[in-house]
Amino acid sequence: MRNTPINYEIVKEKINSSGLKPDISSSTIREIVRLVNEIQEATGEKYVRMEMGVPGLPTPEILLEAGKNALKSSVTSKYPMIEGDADLKKETAKFVKLFMNLNVEAKHCIPAVGSMQSAMALFLTVNRTCIDRNKILFLDPGFPVQKQQCHVLGIDYETFDVYNFRGEKLKDKIESYLKTGNFSSIIFSNPNNPSWISFTERELKIIGELATKYETVVLEDLAYFGMDFRNDYSVPGQAPYQPSVANYTNNYVIMLSSSKVFSFAGQRLGLMVVSPNLFDKSFEGLRRNFKKDTFGYALIYGSLYTLSAGVNHSSQKAMAEMLKQVNEGNYNFIEGVKEYAERAKTMKQLFLENGFKIVYDKDEDQPIADGFYFTFSYDGLSGDELLEELLYYGISAISLKITGSERTEGMRACVSQVLPEQFKTLEERLKRFKEDH
Ligand SMILES: Cc1ncc(COP(=O)(O)O)c(C=O)c1O
Repeated sequence: MRNTPINYEIVKEKINSSGLKPDISSSTIREIVRLVNEIQEATGEKYVRMEMGVPGLPTPEILLEAGKNALKSSVTSKYPMIEGDADLKKETAKFVKLFMNLNVEAKHCIPAVGSMQSAMALFLTVNRTCIDRNKILFLDPGFPVQKQQCHVLGIDYETFDVYNFRGEKLKDKIESYLKTGNFSSIIFSNPNNPSWISFTERELKIIGELATKYETVVLEDLAYFGMDFRNDYSVPGQAPYQPSVANYTNNYVIMLSSSKVFSFAGQRLGLMVVSPNLFDKSFEGLRRNFKKDTFGYALIYGSLYTLSAGVNHSSQKAMAEMLKQVNEGNYNFIEGVKEYAERAKTMKQLFLENGFKIVYDKDEDQPIADGFYFTFSYDGLSGDELLEELLYYGISAISLKITGSERTEGMRACVSQVLPEQFKTLEERLKRFKEDH
């Protein structure tokens, strides 16, 4: 029996009975969560848990108060409007002006039940705009559930790992897909889940210009809005602004999420910001599935209506109040989550000191930011081996394999659940790992 920080026999038995082998690196996030819960229960040992991207900070008081007040105001018996609460829509348009320097109207800002639902509604709509354009292009690595959504919807997609196509190289690579004329849309997240790379202005310009040239809609997933902490995006109405492809094309939809930067994941509130141009654009193909052929109408009264008939009032009212405070400069929404960068900095250092490498480490020639996620690998170990080995050392993370990354030897670490009190334990376990490998 091997001598490992967590009881070897128990961990081995739990892994073997989980049904996740031999291809353990293909496990979903929730499968790893279940396995680690079982091991923790059986061994009584606490893991350094880095597998799930759950916010690890409390929800700001402004959201809690406004949400409670909304619940008390007897809204709960009424259906919400599908297009969203008027105050929330108004404040979102202001937010987009103040923090992105983009001009949109309230009607272009539409709430959904998390960005998860925004993506579902968008896939349903965008892929029906033109008869020939029935594929989605993922600029990977990416958030695994979005591909699962495509599978569930029966939507075709193609993907490539941007690792080897940064800077100018991105142009030819994306164009090689778009020139087939089969792509309705391109999707990416910025900063990126799982790698925490951020596209540079040059890259966003390439994506935007190609989207215009090939009439492809860009779905820009800003689930981690403002969280590239290398720049301060927190001052209303002042540069620097959150970078966006919207500066380079009129064919965009931005997906905002309240989950991470506002620590509001449990209340499930996302916001779509549809480019004014796209909102009113007619697409012949939409007539097949929707009553009207304009994009905005099909998205709201077609797709969104069938998914949940609106978003609960109290989350919308809470977010409307939060955005109002943020827009008026009364609350700095980024300051509170900078904590994640501090954690990432220390944790990356601990990994590097103990023989690990950071897989995605650069934005063109700049080191990537410290933030919610980072990626790592260990020379000589495959993704399957590394994921399993770490479990014997009380450390859990997910494999990059499920994110569309070609760097299948790599893992994604999420820093949000690891409290600074656990750094000592992490260091000891990583040291042991290094000694034994
Ligand atoms: C890139 C990305 N998009 C979307 C989501 C889902 O966000 P929401 O909680 O708003 O549904 C996540 C959550 O982890 C994410 O990482």
